[in-house]
Amino acid sequence: MTEKKRVAVLISGRGSNMQALVEAARAPDYPAEIALVISNRPEAPGLAWAKDQGLHTLALDHNLYESREHFEGQLQSVLGLAKIDLIALAGFMRLMTADFVNRWQGRMINIHPSLLPAFKGLDTHEQALAAGVRISGCTVHFVVPEMDAGPIIGQAAVPVLPADTPETLAGRVLAAEHRLYPAMMAVVARGQAHMAETGLVWQRTDFSNINQAEAVFSPPL
Ligand code: GAR
Repeated sequence: MTEKKRVAVLISGRGSNMQALVEAARAPDYPAEIALVISNRPEAPGLAWAKDQGLHTLALDHNLYESREHFEGQLQSVLGLAKIDLIALAGFMRLMTADFVNRWQGRMINIHPSLLPAFKGLDTHEQALAAGVRISGCTVHFVVPEMDAGPIIGQAAVPVLPADTPETLAGRVLAAEHRLYPAMMAVVARGQAHMAETGLVWQRTDFSNINQAEAVFSPPL
């Protein structure tokens, strides 16, 4: 197997997606290793979990830096020292400058809890319920300077039920996130899809094993 890609996972809180990535990366044939977990919040529960697992972790408290540029300068040198190939944002709740994002173009991915381009930004489940959609989901995409707007790598859909609250919907979407993110990170790490000027380019164009009859119906038929 070619060498595993070295991934830095950036979190701000619970870190359940980071946990899903770490667990997937334990498989011997997984194409990436989680070389570093960084949180901009020192008290993030996910950081304590990662430390417990013996992973390399770093708290980079953005409050200690006088500007976004200074914070990102420090982040960049850490990523360089750790020879990071790929950044995975996993509940990292801090906007990045265009400079930083452009430097990592095609090498930084994010998971967002909606079917983009619907419901960008925060409170996605509140937004979905307010809009009355019957299907929601999650998206893994390459990061570009514009928020939640980069080329989409993969999505998973879940039904929205009449009794849903933002919390119950969030839980259903989160379970899908935990399956989608490790799978899409593997796609990127293997070079099966990459970001080009024109958008996403698939190297693996064989979708023959996709179940074309498998649709999510909501309400059920
Ligand atoms: C996840 O639902 C993730 O999609 C979302 O934050 C949650 C983090 O949970 N990310 C965003 O909203 C980014 N705009 P986690 O810390 O347990 O992975």
